[in-house]
Amino acid sequence: MDEMKLGLFIRPTGHHIASWRHPDAHTDANTNFNRFIEMAHTAERGLLDMLFSADTNTAWTTEDSALNRQHYSAWLEPFTLLSALAAHTTHIGLVCTRSTSFDQPYTVARMFASLDLISGGRAGVNIVTTGNPRAALNYNQNSHLPKSKRYEIANEFVEVLKGLWDSWDEDAFVRDRKTGTFFEWDRMHVLNHKGRHFQVEGPLNTARSPQGHPVIVQAGASEEGRELAAKSADVIFAAHQNIEMAQTFYSDVKSRLARYHRQPSDLAIMPGLSVTVAATLDEAQAKADELQELIHPDHGLAYLSRRLGHDITGMDPDEPLPDLGAVDDVGTRSGQMLEMARREGWTLRQLYQHFAATRGHMVLVGTPMQVADVMQEWFENGACDGFNLIPPTFPGELDAFVDLVVPQLQRRGIFRMAYEAGTLRDRLGLRVPRSRYAARAQGTK
Ligand SMILES: Cc1cc2nc3c(=O)[nH]c(=O)nc-3n(C[C@H](O)[C@H](O)[C@H](O)COP(=O)(O)O)c2cc1C
Repeated sequence: MDEMKLGLFIRPTGHHIASWRHPDAHTDANTNFNRFIEMAHTAERGLLDMLFSADTNTAWTTEDSALNRQHYSAWLEPFTLLSALAAHTTHIGLVCTRSTSFDQPYTVARMFASLDLISGGRAGVNIVTTGNPRAALNYNQNSHLPKSKRYEIANEFVEVLKGLWDSWDEDAFVRDRKTGTFFEWDRMHVLNHKGRHFQVEGPLNTARSPQGHPVIVQAGASEEGRELAAKSADVIFAAHQNIEMAQTFYSDVKSRLARYHRQPSDLAIMPGLSVTVAATLDEAQAKADELQELIHPDHGLAYLSRRLGHDITGMDPDEPLPDLGAVDDVGTRSGQMLEMARREGWTLRQLYQHFAATRGHMVLVGTPMQVADVMQEWFENGACDGFNLIPPTFPGELDAFVDLVVPQLQRRGIFRMAYEAGTLRDRLGLRVPRSRYAARAQGTK
């Protein structure tokens, strides 16, 4: 790939946990659709590849005691939001999360095939097993299944999704008024999936969509997550704090593709990137510092408690990190952050400020030139195929990125000058998957 891919991870007022307290934030963004239209228009002005929304299936996304300090506990359901944004945008991809632990593949296949048809080939689904265990309580379960089980289900879920998306051949609908035949029988395929976790007859009651298969994203970084991505995903979102981590991840994940008879270019790797940019470094740093000061200590400690799986609320934020004993099951990113905090001898405040600003992702604070230098270095040195932008504030840092950094990338010839025609899949440089039935028919000729 000679041009990098750029996604925009949306969230009401930004990715920094104190973003809504910023003087320029639109504090009503969690319920005001117009704010998201503005965001999408800015993203299209910046020629970005896709909008992405995460999802958690629960309001409890931080420690109970500080939930009232968070801006995205209650906001717009992402699929509904993206469907509405489809009508307000022309080029940008529309990607959101669905849970393989709580959704059914038939429902998800219909939703995304429909969004793909509505948007002219711009739909994508981020397949997650759902990290937050509280979500289980909203779906008739007393506890979340163990991770290995969840990934086992996720693998079968994706198989069913892809099978259902092959239900109809592209030319199935002949709509022949003369003969009264709307579709040809032999161009409809019944899946008849009977697996360990799902029984799905099919066919899907939504026609084949422009991308054939809407883009599949995977965002877990564990062994199971990487393997699922190598086998089935088109894009993997990741979180790294430096280029060395990103390069190790990149070469590991790309090397797994051959096992599944796939090419390295069949999977785009897009780590998260938080950018605070201004004309001078001092100005950019002042903006970043201002935001850190806005974190309420109760929120910072509660946030950290959830990330570390240990209750540290009520502790003095200026004390050093206490001995937390075993913190095995905190997820890949939290483990890395904790390791760094121990190594650097950080206080709790330093750790929550770092965590709140980055959530484990790469953070850049600097001039347009400095930001573009790092992005180019990553892109040209086997660390990524592009980035999933996580602006600390909306609309502030999104506007700044589009106005200041995008032109720098374009000048260097590593980002598009205009949208190319085609679908999201085309723009990401991904192949259009052939229907399994077409492949089989050709094989038997
Ligand atoms: C950019 C990005 C977006 C993610 N979006 C979601 C999400 O919407 N919902 C969710 O439950 N987990 C989300 N995750 C978390 C991962 O899917 C995964 O559950 C987490 O990384 C822990 O699994 P692992 O140990 O395999 O990394 C996201 C992760 C990243 C890096």
